Amino acid sequence: MLGNYELNQQYANADCARNTGMMPRVIVLKTCYHSMKNYNYLVVDPISREAVIVDPAWEMEKIEEALLDAHASLSGILTTHSHPDHVHLAKPMAEKYECPIWMSKGEIAASGFDAKQLIAIDGNPWTVGHMLITPIFTPGHTPGSTCYLIGDNLFTGDVLFAEGCGICLDVESAHEMFASLEHLKTRLTPEIRIFPGHSYGKPPGQRLAQLCKDNMYLQFTDKNSFAAFRLRSGQNLGKMFNFS
Ligand SMILES: [Fe+2]
Repeated sequence: MLGNYELNQQYANADCARNTGMMPRVIVLKTCYHSMKNYNYLVVDPISREAVIVDPAWEMEKIEEALLDAHASLSGILTTHSHPDHVHLAKPMAEKYECPIWMSKGEIAASGFDAKQLIAIDGNPWTVGHMLITPIFTPGHTPGSTCYLIGDNLFTGDVLFAEGCGICLDVESAHEMFASLEHLKTRLTPEIRIFPGHSYGKPPGQRLAQLCKDNMYLQFTDKNSFAAFRLRSGQNLGKMFNFS
């Protein structure tokens, strides 16, 4: 747990990066395994050249090439949740680069995910280089799903896509998802760029303001109508996983 002085210092470092215009760089990596298509994001601090990777899966070489191209060193692995297509390379990369894997306490408890390098995160932000990493707990798709805010970029995993939101298993989790999306809408500024784990066609990095206009799942005003729509019958599972 960080003391106030340390946390203030971390905020000061992040402010310094903002004031000097040296904001984190997001490198978008699309990775595939058979029909599975995921977005991994390498986020690089331009000052220290330290980097974190979000939800690494499927193509280690592609991630390593991006690290080399960015002249960056890998300092940690952020996982939005524990589903296999979001943690596939977490352990091998943590071992190879001797860096931590961050996952929310709630997700670890719900999934049993374990690794030698695993760090259970609570709600406190922390820094990598000059980048302030702020976890935002957004349950619904899984009990411990977490988004990460770095600079003006939000990494949403399977919580929020440009075109929709992640699958929910039952009414209770759909209600949680509704609350999570409401939380994001009220907590974040409209300029924040959204980087999801998957896409149905729109490129990652759209602004929240755009999603609030276009994304059907952000239009609901009460949890019951949201849950009824999220869990409606006749949804085509094949289409749901037909990511582009
Ligand atoms: Fe998932």
